[in-house]
Amino acid sequence: MTTIVIGMQWGDEGKGKIIDILSEKADIIVRYQGGDNAGHTIVLSQGRFILHLIPSGILRRDKRCIIGNGVVVDPQALIGEIEDLKEKGIEIDRNLLLSERCHLIFPYHRILDKLREQKGVLKIGTTGRGIGPCYADKVSRCGIRFIDLYGKDFKQRLKNNIKEKNEIFKAYGFKGFSFTEIYEQYQKFGERLKRYICDCSAVLNRAISEKKNILFEGAQGTLLDIDYGTYPYVTSSNTIAGGACAGAGIAPTSIDEIIGVAKAYTTRVGEGPFPGQFSDKLMAEFQRIGKEYGATTGRPRRCGWFDTLIARHAVRVNNLKTIVITKLDVLSKYREIKICTAYRYKDKILKDLPADSQVLAQCRPIYENCQGWQEDISHIKQYKDLPRNARKYLDEIEQLLGVEIKIISVGSQREQTIFR
Ligand code: GDP
Ligand code: IMO
Ligand code: MG
Repeated sequence: MTTIVIGMQWGDEGKGKIIDILSEKADIIVRYQGGDNAGHTIVLSQGRFILHLIPSGILRRDKRCIIGNGVVVDPQALIGEIEDLKEKGIEIDRNLLLSERCHLIFPYHRILDKLREQKGVLKIGTTGRGIGPCYADKVSRCGIRFIDLYGKDFKQRLKNNIKEKNEIFKAYGFKGFSFTEIYEQYQKFGERLKRYICDCSAVLNRAISEKKNILFEGAQGTLLDIDYGTYPYVTSSNTIAGGACAGAGIAPTSIDEIIGVAKAYTTRVGEGPFPGQFSDKLMAEFQRIGKEYGATTGRPRRCGWFDTLIARHAVRVNNLKTIVITKLDVLSKYREIKICTAYRYKDKILKDLPADSQVLAQCRPIYENCQGWQEDISHIKQYKDLPRNARKYLDEIEQLLGVEIKIISVGSQREQTIFR
């Protein structure tokens, strides 16, 4: 059985928690896109873990975790994450594999990312991890993969890249990089990570033929997808389910199930249009109750009510039949809860998400009101025990999206999960 889990909004939907839960029954957990821009939180009795590159299955013993070819890897960040986990008592040995085809993030990617944000014409509010510049090099065919790091022309390719990047840096008034320092540093990283290198596609296709359970862990969310997100305010990879095939070396016909994860409301970090963004007071309240601060950068997340145009867009591009709703507990405070069901754009009513971010920025949400429940639900284990209005809220989301809600999360811990 192969299952892809993707985010249905602008990331941070609680994918990490859901992957951790579903990984109990999985043999292999695979990341297939993004990089250490991701921050997936898992809360266990022994503490809180935030994973950036390593799949969220790593906290369970005997699970194999693979970083697929579609992931851009900052080797320094990966080594740091391995060391941190080991310090916390998590075993990392033959349970971690890293595709030889992963592109490497270099210091010049990180600096370029930051300089563009500070001095460029368009501020995206990136995580500053060098993700965009690394994917740009991949597509420009001057990127360097792990397999190239071990090859004989690594030195020359790195030299060429540094020369080219230093020219760009001049325009930004930044002094640039020295070749030797990076060359020596990356050779050491290569040696340190060599033990994890694999042919991801070969490992996965063998596992598929052996009928193993495989979970594909999406990073970011559908609205941050490079093609189907709110371009240009997106990340640089295909975050949608379709990305799993290219990013892990498996065929579309090998996928059995796709599960979408959505928060019971909407959040976004970084720049870009967000039609239903709350006023300052309500936003501060959601940030406090929902602890809405980025798991990677610590930035406050912008918040709004559940948006069905966004979620329906995710249902369509990922062909979702079943979804997970997280953070339902955060809504418990409110007497009245709203769901955005359409946008008003000038004199038009829109039912579908517009492709133009400038149009989206001018859209005003049209809401439907739902009655709240105003009681603590964070201890509830069975669907039938949820307050009537909470069930009605979930029913309404199911109706509006045409999907089934199979899992409801009412807290950050494993036990705070309701299965239907
Ligand atoms: P991801 O990037 O999709 O894995 O999500 P993040 O980890 O960035 O953000 C989700 C945050 O919500 C984390 O702090 C989780 O511990 C927390 N969380 C997950 N599910 C729930 C839930 O049902 N209720 C509450 N209150 N917090 C949750
Ligand atoms: P997880 O996997 C939320 C956002 C950044 C920025 C845009 C581009 O934890 O859900 P990038 O550094 O990727 O070039 O930034 O994408 N972004 C995320 N927002 N969750 C994430 O990951 C994100 N990864 C990137 O804030 O707006
Ligand atoms: Mg996150």
